[in-house]
Amino acid sequence: MPLLDEVEAMREEAEKAIAGADSPDALEAARVAYLGRSGKLKDFMSRIREVPADQKKAAGQRLNEIKSGLETLFAGAKDRIGAKAVCARPLPDPTLPGRIQPLGSVHPLTQALERFAGIFERLGFTVRQGPEIEDVFHNFDALNMPDDHPVRDQADTFALEDNAILRSQTSTVQIRVMEEHVGRHGGGAGMPPIRIVSPGRTYRPDAVDATHHYSFSQIEGLAVDRDVAMADLKGFLGMFARETFGSGVKTRFRPSFFPFTEPSAEMDVSCVFCGGKGCRVCKRQGWVELGGCGMVDPNVFDAVGIDRELFTGFAFGFGIERVAMFMLGVDDIRRFTENDLRFLRQF
Ligand code: DAH
Repeated sequence: MPLLDEVEAMREEAEKAIAGADSPDALEAARVAYLGRSGKLKDFMSRIREVPADQKKAAGQRLNEIKSGLETLFAGAKDRIGAKAVCARPLPDPTLPGRIQPLGSVHPLTQALERFAGIFERLGFTVRQGPEIEDVFHNFDALNMPDDHPVRDQADTFALEDNAILRSQTSTVQIRVMEEHVGRHGGGAGMPPIRIVSPGRTYRPDAVDATHHYSFSQIEGLAVDRDVAMADLKGFLGMFARETFGSGVKTRFRPSFFPFTEPSAEMDVSCVFCGGKGCRVCKRQGWVELGGCGMVDPNVFDAVGIDRELFTGFAFGFGIERVAMFMLGVDDIRRFTENDLRFLRQF
């Protein structure tokens, strides 16, 4: 067969191979076989010598034509196969409306906790947090609530295992902070002062109703220094009350009992709605209770190794839900944990 006939036969073969390739691998194999460095086309190019001299030029031209024709075919096949691979993936539908990402908001209780903590931070207190799963020592013993004492009933809680319980008060963080402080500085003459607040969640096995819940929040405070007096407690908590409820608010301290403070008090603020005259919101009391406070009992200092002769301190623990309900006009404590967006979106 004359060379040029062989060439045309090869062209047909190559065109079929390229057109029939249905994967990138098959196409590449066809390219290597016909257009590659040692492919069939190259082979014919070197055989041009066999062609009679007067036909050489025409044969060369024909081979070049075939080469560029095959190259064009190859490029087209590459696009076709590439597009097929992309089509195998689902294409996004650009006509669909965009997806709206609803923006959440901070839970009203978290807002209240952050607000209260922020006020104390401006008064020089540092925010410290502690674990919700506690041990008996930090929740009771170190807080001057011995095993056989009926005062433990007040702060009864949920037991997880032997010594693992859910904390029933954020007072546990007082103990943890003092232990760490003593570990670092010792509890003697060189000990620097402590001023912390600790917002967080607490647990008690209370029957749930409109004003009680087994899970609630407190903000705890502790200040320890030389010569801290009850007057300091009243001063700081008075400033806190005025920052929170407005400069016209009145405060009241009623004698009370807590095992970890002596003396102890309950702190009330005058109702912001009626100015203390008594209304529906304050249940005709004129006052709203914030929580307990007092001077740190020296037994607590003994438990953590702070010298009771050198240091005094004040502490407080306020319930957040009750104050938030009062300020926001919420009628039922359960609303805070029901995750009902109609309620939460209001804040
Ligand atoms: N831990 C107490 C409670 O849960 C509240 C409390 C009262 C905390 C007096 C204090 C305090 O730090 O001094 O009822």
